[in-house]
Amino acid sequence: MEFVHIPVMKEECLDALRLKSGGIYFDGTLGGAGHSYEILKRTSPDGKLVATDLDSDAIENAERKLSEFKGRFNIFHSNFKDFKKIVNENGYGEFDGAILDLGVSSYQLDNRDRGFSYLAADVRLDMRMDRSKPLDAWEVVNKYTKERLAYIISTYGEEKFAENIAKNICERRKAKSVDTTGELAEIIDLSIPYRFKQKGHPAKKTFQAIRIEVNEELDGLAEGIKDIIRGLKKGGRLAVLTFHSLEDRIVKRTFSDLETDCICDKRFPICVCGKKKEIVNVLRKPLEASEEEKEINPRSKSAKLRVAEKL
Ligand SMILES: C[S@@+](CC[C@H](N)C(=O)[O-])C[C@H]1O[C@@H](n2cnc3c(N)ncnc32)[C@H](O)[C@@H]1O
Repeated sequence: MEFVHIPVMKEECLDALRLKSGGIYFDGTLGGAGHSYEILKRTSPDGKLVATDLDSDAIENAERKLSEFKGRFNIFHSNFKDFKKIVNENGYGEFDGAILDLGVSSYQLDNRDRGFSYLAADVRLDMRMDRSKPLDAWEVVNKYTKERLAYIISTYGEEKFAENIAKNICERRKAKSVDTTGELAEIIDLSIPYRFKQKGHPAKKTFQAIRIEVNEELDGLAEGIKDIIRGLKKGGRLAVLTFHSLEDRIVKRTFSDLETDCICDKRFPICVCGKKKEIVNVLRKPLEASEEEKEINPRSKSAKLRVAEKL
């Protein structure tokens, strides 16, 4: 299947990074290499790029797409949360800028074999970005306890009917395992009362929740962001694109924590915590895609861009 992903808020992200030739940039979520391609093009002739992705399909595609910039980029089949380790092991210095475009690519969602889509019927539940990892969606759906399933669906999917969905999954499991995306979507559909099904696909929130669990999308995100920011040069910027409120909340809190000086009790006469402000939050409010982009690329509708500048 052809690798198709339209980069979201491309101009806004690249403007935020204030790219310059000769700079070195980090793209933690390579995906279709849309942002990476532009970074390399706009930092010609000698700008460098270091990129990571968990998905080997994305890496294979990106190696081809970026081939005209041979010698100027290095791609790692890694989690961007391992940024510090990658930098140390490869002797990179500080970066001029970095970008994270969180979540899944359109390729991952649209490639039905990957088991991310509630629109596909007979596909084994998978949802792994990194297919070398043992935990997949089948394992979560068939092996987790009812309580754990309900917690995940409620917390990561913000789904009101999480308990009912978890109960019905466990009921179905007594007769036979839930093997496919279609079977799971059907159980979810039966678990939500008709009058609550008007907005969007009924399986959307639960599929999001299971995907987040399988790929540990929120675990260690705050620490990963801090490591990347601390790996920037003074004045270097990190641009982060999020697509749901759970991710955005983590980014917002992390920036706010890094933007805060001393956190001592106000009654203390002098600071004893030693905490120093590390960034400026460049955009007071997150930027959203233009109406025009939302029309052309529906994926951009929920996007929020936040930008931090290292002090
Ligand atoms: C939204 S897409 C990125 C699209 C890309 N910016 C472009 O313009 O084509 C997200 C990509 O990040 C990868 N990804 C998500 N979380 C990751 C993580 N923690 N570490 C590395 N890659 C990750 C996914 O596998 C996916 O390919």
